[in-house]
Amino acid sequence: MPNLEVCLSPNLLPLHTLTHKIVVVVDILRATSCMVTAIACGVESILPLQDTETCRAMKSQGYYIAAERDGKQVEGFDLGNSPFSYMEKHLIGQKIAFTTTNGTQVIKLSEKAEQIIVGAFLNLSAVASYLLERQKDVLVACAGWKGNINLEDTLFAGALVDVLATQNFTISNDSALLAQSLYPKKQSDLLGFVNLCSHVQRLKNLGIQKDVEFCLQKDVYDVVPTLQNGSIVKLASQTAL
Ligand code: MLT
Repeated sequence: MPNLEVCLSPNLLPLHTLTHKIVVVVDILRATSCMVTAIACGVESILPLQDTETCRAMKSQGYYIAAERDGKQVEGFDLGNSPFSYMEKHLIGQKIAFTTTNGTQVIKLSEKAEQIIVGAFLNLSAVASYLLERQKDVLVACAGWKGNINLEDTLFAGALVDVLATQNFTISNDSALLAQSLYPKKQSDLLGFVNLCSHVQRLKNLGIQKDVEFCLQKDVYDVVPTLQNGSIVKLASQTAL
């Protein structure tokens, strides 16, 4: 039976073995929600990067450049971190270089994994179905906030554990049990609960409430973005969808 672990903070990732596992990276507010939206809406690929200067330099290579720091779009970049901006028609078929405070960092930290896929509430069932089909050990890697655990990523981890544990996955660490015990208590009012979380408080003044509401919707998209040759793309089996 495949094992299922959760890592609630990128600072705890070095304690996990990543080789031979599928890592599901998650940053509900808002990096992985943006990535899922972008790939579902027809963006060709997303190059996740750690720093703004490397990202800025990709402009000369034909990329749209996207950067967020502390919730805000970085000056001089084409895009920030609102999922709505990734639905624009002019981005269809385009490549985006993307750096965010936490989300793109956790992708880099997960690079030893056998495969990295991108999870969000927006594609929860697609991710769960893919993992059920693959039957490999899974680690859900939460981006958190600057090393701290956050509520929204933990809730997503709980939702995914909830589905996989009813199949043949073995929950294999306490973080997974913790996330799983939280999710059913809060799933009927995810928005109300997440509104208490530190990132929503932090971003209140930036007018992102509609982003928060959007990012908490389940199964809007049937895509499983995956890292291939350094870029996030639609899974090969889904390119014809
Ligand atoms: C991040 O990567 O830290 C974020 O997605 C922050 C945000 O823009 O909400």
